Amino acid sequence: MTGDALVLTETRGPVDVVTVNRPAKRNALDLALVRELHRVFGGDVRGGVRAVVLTGAGGHFAAGADIAELERRGLDDALASINGALFRRIEEFPVPVIAAVEGYALGGGCELALACDLRVASETARFAQPEVGLGIVPGAGALYRLPRLIGMGAAKDLVYTGRRVAADEALRIGLVNRVVPAGRALAAALEIAETISDQGAAAVRLAKLALGAQARGTDYGSILERMAQGILFESEDKHRRMKDFLDRKGRPR
Ligand code: COA
Repeated sequence: MTGDALVLTETRGPVDVVTVNRPAKRNALDLALVRELHRVFGGDVRGGVRAVVLTGAGGHFAAGADIAELERRGLDDALASINGALFRRIEEFPVPVIAAVEGYALGGGCELALACDLRVASETARFAQPEVGLGIVPGAGALYRLPRLIGMGAAKDLVYTGRRVAADEALRIGLVNRVVPAGRALAAALEIAETISDQGAAAVRLAKLALGAQARGTDYGSILERMAQGILFESEDKHRRMKDFLDRKGRPR
């Protein structure tokens, strides 16, 4: 992985590593960076990829949305919710996404981690939703993902106070899945990703879809539709019927 791009991507066998790369600004998520992440998570899934690890450069995960930009945003921007749409895209990414968190995961950075399937934190990790201190609410998923993950009481504590949660507390309240020594978050996340890669590919994808269905209660239709189509795409009947049609018509060029 090389370069000074805002988002770096690297392939490690069946695992893709995506690194947010704006270390001078603690990986604050400005519009250009968010657009780049949309591109990375919006395209077709690379053939053979079984899991993605998402991390930050320079010893931090991400210090939130770019406050200089936030200050200028208005109603239209809030309604367009470009960060919220990105995090939904990550949540719905077909294979598991694991956040490897060193240092700060604040505001939108914490929401980015919440959108991932699993979170591995090093002892240096600090999580917070400090938005109310800036006169706004966490507007890209924390208000519903956080209570789902850690319970309403703990979510209210974090959202109303904006206080920072260290790695050990994050583990205790269920905000993260593992805590590892400083500097080891990426390695530990890669280990989990490799374990996932050893499981049945279709089984993991279907499990993610089904688990996601509970999280997105209003979106059952599209999930059932994809599951139904996934089953039918593999069926003998579909192959036979389509082959019949193509044989009658001549195969499309
Ligand atoms: N938006 C824009 N710029 C940010 C940023 C953010 N969310 N977080 C950090 N930066 C910038 C700082 O302005 C600084 O830029 P500069 O070098 O041009 O002055 C640079 O990143 C380094 O930050 P600095 O505060 O000097 O580093 P630090 O290690 O002392 O503190 C933080 C790091 C993350 C604790 C601190 O920058 C911070 O509190 N950031 C805001 C976090 C936040 O409220 N996020 C939620 C937004 S909704």
